[in-house]
Amino acid sequence: MAQIVLHDVVKKYGTFQVVHEVNLNIADGEFVVLVGPSGCGKSTTLRMIAGLESISAGTLRIGNKVVNDVPPKDRDIAMVFQNYALYQHMTVFDNLAFGLRNRKVPEMEIRSEVTRATQMLGLEPLLARKPFQLSGGQQQRVALGRCIVRRPQVFLFDEPLSNLDAKLRAQMRIEIKALRERVPTTSVYVTHDQVEAMTLGDRVVVMKDGWIQQIGTPLEVYNRPANRFVASFIGAPAMNFMEVELVEEHGVVSAQAKDFKVELPDEQAAVLRKHSAKTVTLGIRPEQIRLGMPSGNTGSSFSGVVTVTEQLGSELVIALNVADSTIMASRISPETGVSPHARVQMWVDGKALQFFDHENGKAITCAPCTLR
Ligand SMILES: Nc1ncnc2c1ncn2[C@@H]1O[C@H](COP(=O)(O)OP(=O)(O)O)[C@@H](O)[C@H]1O
Ligand SMILES: [Mg+2]
Repeated sequence: MAQIVLHDVVKKYGTFQVVHEVNLNIADGEFVVLVGPSGCGKSTTLRMIAGLESISAGTLRIGNKVVNDVPPKDRDIAMVFQNYALYQHMTVFDNLAFGLRNRKVPEMEIRSEVTRATQMLGLEPLLARKPFQLSGGQQQRVALGRCIVRRPQVFLFDEPLSNLDAKLRAQMRIEIKALRERVPTTSVYVTHDQVEAMTLGDRVVVMKDGWIQQIGTPLEVYNRPANRFVASFIGAPAMNFMEVELVEEHGVVSAQAKDFKVELPDEQAAVLRKHSAKTVTLGIRPEQIRLGMPSGNTGSSFSGVVTVTEQLGSELVIALNVADSTIMASRISPETGVSPHARVQMWVDGKALQFFDHENGKAITCAPCTLR
C-alpha cells in the first residue's frame, strides 16, 4: 500500500485549464471518492494519478516518491474503467492471468493468485467463459479480479458501475465495499453518483469546474456543506433553497420571506445576527421537513400548498409551494393522505437550517454539526 499526495496539481490542454491546483493527501489504505458533475475534471485527475495524462504543474507523490514523470507501468497501480476493457478473445481465466503472464510470473503462482481472486469474487463457475458470455456485472467482476491478482499499491476506479442497471449497481457497491475489507488497498474512485460517493468513501472530494469544493467524510459533506453547490449535490432529493431576510426582533432572529417565518435557535442566531437585515440563502433538506406542528418548543412551523405528491411505498415525497418557491419534503409517512391543492402545515428543527451567502454561495453557519 502507499499514500498518494497531490500538491498544486494542474492540468491544462493548451491554454484551457481543466484542473486547478488540486491539493489532496490520501492516506495509506484510504478509499477516497472524487465526485462531481460530468466534465468537472474527475477523470483527468485520476488519469494524472495513473500516469495516463501528463501533469501540467504541481507534484504527485505515490508512496513518498515523486512520480510526475514515471510511466504508468512503473507506478504499481491497477485501474478499473467503466467499459471493463476485457480481452474479448480470452477466457475469464486468461483475462485474469494476463497481467501476471506478461510479467513472467511462474504458472503455479499465477494459478494460485487467480484462484484467490476468483474465490473472492465468486467467479469460479465462469473461468472457462469468454467476456461475451457474461453479464455486465460479471464482466465488471472480472475487471476487478484482474486488479486483485496484481496486488498493486493503488487501485484507481473510473465510474466502474456506470454501465450497470440500478439494482446491479447497488449489489456491486456492496461487493466493492466487502472487497475493501479483504484487500485493503489505497484507492481513488471516480463517480458522478453521490450515493456511490457517500457509501464507498472514507472521504469524499467534491469537484466542480476543475476546482475542489470540499474534502470531508461523507457525514461532514452532508452535514456541513462548505457551499451551496456541495449542499445541492450531496443528498437526494436535493436540498431546498430559498432567499430569505434575516430579521432581529426583541432579541430573536428569524428567517423571513413572504408567508414564511422561522425563528432560529440561539446558537444559529449568535452567528447570523451580524447578517441581520440582509438577504441570505436558506437551505433545508427535504428529509428534515416534518408534516404537522412541532411538539414542544423545538421547531418552527410554516405552511405551503401541495403541488405534487410522489408515493414511493416506503415514503411519500411532496412538492409544495412555499413563499413562491418549490420546496420538497421527503420521508413523509406513506399513509399520510395529502393531495394537491391542500394547504398543509410543516415544521423544521431550527438546528437543521443551513445558511449560505446570497452572493457567493459560501456556507455562513455549520449548525447541523450540532444535530444528532
Ligand atoms: N484531451 C482533451 N483535450 C481537451 N479537453 C479535454 C480533454 N480531455 C478532457 N477535456 C476536458 O476537460 C474537462 C474535464 O474532463 P473530465 O476529467 O473527463 O471530466 P469528468 O471525468 O469529471 O466528467 C472537460 O471539460 C473536458 O471536455
Ligand atoms: Mg469522467
